[in-house]
Amino acid sequence: MFYEPRKKNHGLPKNPFNSLVIPRPIGWISSVDKNGVFNLAPYSFFNAVSYSPPTVMFASGVGSADDKTKDSARNVEATGEFVCNLATWDTREQMNQTSATLSPETDEIALTGLTPIASTLVAAPRIAEAPVHLECKYLKTVDMPGWNENDIYKVLFGEVVGIHVNDEFITDEGLIDVARMLPIGRLGYNDYTRVYGESTFTLDRPD
Ligand SMILES: Cc1cc2nc3c(=O)[nH]c(=O)nc-3n(C[C@H](O)[C@H](O)[C@H](O)COP(=O)(O)O)c2cc1C
Repeated sequence: MFYEPRKKNHGLPKNPFNSLVIPRPIGWISSVDKNGVFNLAPYSFFNAVSYSPPTVMFASGVGSADDKTKDSARNVEATGEFVCNLATWDTREQMNQTSATLSPETDEIALTGLTPIASTLVAAPRIAEAPVHLECKYLKTVDMPGWNENDIYKVLFGEVVGIHVNDEFITDEGLIDVARMLPIGRLGYNDYTRVYGESTFTLDRPD
């Protein structure tokens, strides 16, 4: 099949786009607002974009608040800081719960019974149950052009200034033990994938 997204002529019952860019990592973004209220939400329009400095981005769609901005994006732009927590098989239910549309005053970390712990370099909290935390300083927002006034997408970039890895997931050889960490990734619809030992393989790069 071939279709042009602008013409919406895929002829399928559901938009297939996010089933075609897969699997996507999930940035489980924790932040804090100006009043000190914690916020946590998953973003799968998320990725790492560079090594030096390590930089990540997440793209936030239109929010339900008056400013049409999701809480994570508003908090990050206001405070200049956030943390990306690695979502895993063990925390999949809580990750999903934190995607509920809730008022900015709601602390999703408390709501889901997760444990906030202090970060080292930023005010945004880390999620104790996550094996990896990337402490980030906000760099900039790129506003994406939408098809209409409600197609608001803000891509927020942050420099990773501090990285925590639970030592339990570092092997004796000094590698990250993905097989035990079981990170999850986003597919299309409401589907996910899980990375585990037998699901990974190695390819040596050509010279
Ligand atoms: C796995 C998953 C990935 C998501 N990815 C995104 C995303 O990339 N961008 C987005 O705007 N919303 C995404 N959402 C929806 C947000 O998590 C949801 O709108 C949430 O309420 C935003 O919370 P906040 O307002 O506290 O930031 C995703 C939801 C799930 C379950």
